[in-house]
Amino acid sequence: MQSQLRKQLIDAFTNNKDEFLSGQYLADLIGCSRTAVWKHMEELRKEGFELEAIRKKGYRIVKTPENITADEIRFGLKTKFLGQSIHYEESVESTQKIAHRLAYDQAAEGTVVVAEEQVAGRGRMDRVWHSPKYTGVWMSIILRPNIPIPKAPQLTLLAAVAVVQAIEEVTTVTPQIKWPNDILINGKKVTGILTELQAEADRINSVIIGIGINVNQQMEDYPEELRTIATSLSIESGKRINRADLIRSAFNRLEHLYELYLEKGFLPIKLLWESYAISIGKMITARTLSGSIRGRALGITEDGVLKIEDTEGIVHQVYSADIEL
Ligand code: BTN
Repeated sequence: MQSQLRKQLIDAFTNNKDEFLSGQYLADLIGCSRTAVWKHMEELRKEGFELEAIRKKGYRIVKTPENITADEIRFGLKTKFLGQSIHYEESVESTQKIAHRLAYDQAAEGTVVVAEEQVAGRGRMDRVWHSPKYTGVWMSIILRPNIPIPKAPQLTLLAAVAVVQAIEEVTTVTPQIKWPNDILINGKKVTGILTELQAEADRINSVIIGIGINVNQQMEDYPEELRTIATSLSIESGKRINRADLIRSAFNRLEHLYELYLEKGFLPIKLLWESYAISIGKMITARTLSGSIRGRALGITEDGVLKIEDTEGIVHQVYSADIEL
């Protein structure tokens, strides 16, 4: 984890983008010696930051690195709590696993685990989540909402809206959401969200939102069996995407929507979610553990549950299923 000093240093450059900041100014600001400032600047350089240092003027960040580091994400981040503590890992089994441990150990709300690679990434229904190195965003976010347990799935829908908005902002491509949490572009999956809880009998301790975004993979990077169903932002937008920009945007959007949700409830989120939903009004098949339901998707309830009207006019409420269009 990055040191507090480094965090303050990055904040100073974030608040004075493109400007030179002198060693003395930075030393006074963060309460350390100029030598300590210099040492931290050298650490940033090693992480891949391109720095300009001019005598009498000070330091300026010219270019941030292409790989994701906690410092790179922090550069330009404007959130109050989301992403203010970032655990960056080069390679992990699954960011979910680490986030669960941190949440259990009382990590603050908004703590995030980000990894360059997952060797045992998990999807919904215990499926494998393909998470190759340096190409995607693999991260888990810890929230601690004071809401009843049955309302927790609403946060999955909220996270989906935040990621769609972040993708729109960074790529100008508009994805669609397939209930509950698949984000698609041109009918192929670009993002998956896995929401898990740590709860006692009647109260939530933490919600761990795992988000996997396929960003810079090319088609040949995918295993054969995924090529017809998965895609990446780079394939769909035709350009290379800066993953740190995408993560920052997702943090900003998620924090904003989460605060809106805590203040005003699920309705504003529901409306946004429905505006991006692909399946509403269409004939779909929902494959649940207890069988399949074929019918028209009517929308979602106040709790985020999918309503399907079958051919006999019976309305079913679906809590968990795979949807086929
Ligand atoms: C799905 O669509 O099935 C959900 C996929 C969730 C993948 C993310 S990647 C980060 C986090 N760590 C994991 O092991 N899974 C989630």
